Amino acid sequence: AGPKPLAGKRVLITAGGTIERLDPVRYITNDSSGKMGFALAEEARALGADVTVVWARTELAPPPVAEVVRVESAQEMYDAVMARLPSMDVVIKAAAVADYRPVQREKIKMKKGPDKLTLELVRNPDILQAIGDWRHDGGGAGKDKPYVIGFAAETGDAERYALDKLRRKRCDLIAANDVSEPGAGFGTDTNILSLYGAEGLVESLPLQSKREAAGRIWRIALARAPGLLTG
Ligand code: C5P
Repeated sequence: AGPKPLAGKRVLITAGGTIERLDPVRYITNDSSGKMGFALAEEARALGADVTVVWARTELAPPPVAEVVRVESAQEMYDAVMARLPSMDVVIKAAAVADYRPVQREKIKMKKGPDKLTLELVRNPDILQAIGDWRHDGGGAGKDKPYVIGFAAETGDAERYALDKLRRKRCDLIAANDVSEPGAGFGTDTNILSLYGAEGLVESLPLQSKREAAGRIWRIALARAPGLLTG
């Protein structure tokens, strides 16, 4: 066992893709595998943290951390995250949260009907935005925690979108990947990430395993928030 710079610290990590149900047997989801979030959770545990994983649909089971909370929809993930926010030192939002859900969730299986069917969707809450708002203007205002790291999966122009996201959602770091690059993003065991802070690009991580990338992200977070994360 190595050094435990996160000993006694509470870390919440979201992982996987949310499931937005249309009816009892059909849903909308996305390609998230949960691997990046779980790698961050394993690494946090190895660094001594008390880890909570809030996970939606994934390819894998979550690592054996202190608390695992299974959720399905964005709304359920929002509730699970916001309820735990006040006690957390770090929150990492690696989940792929659906931006929209069906307006109607049918109680019984939908039947075939006309040739064309229009699905009406409504916006989900943006959890990362809610965390940033809570920390600045809400219940967390005046406190210096949690430290918040967001993710951004982009298909081009990652830097511009990442910096815009960082400012708008008021988080401390954004880990951006261009999911159109081979070896980066959904489903793969590797990733190519760029980390952005308020000042701009912090570090570009070359192609590496998600576990290695997770270690680098923790090292960068520890270096940037020394008062919050150590001692
Ligand atoms: O806006 P976009 O979805 O690209 O932002 C990505 C970041 O925001 C991720 O950290 C993701 O987990 C988070 N997010 C969220 N709630 C949403 C949508 C995205 O927390 N409804």
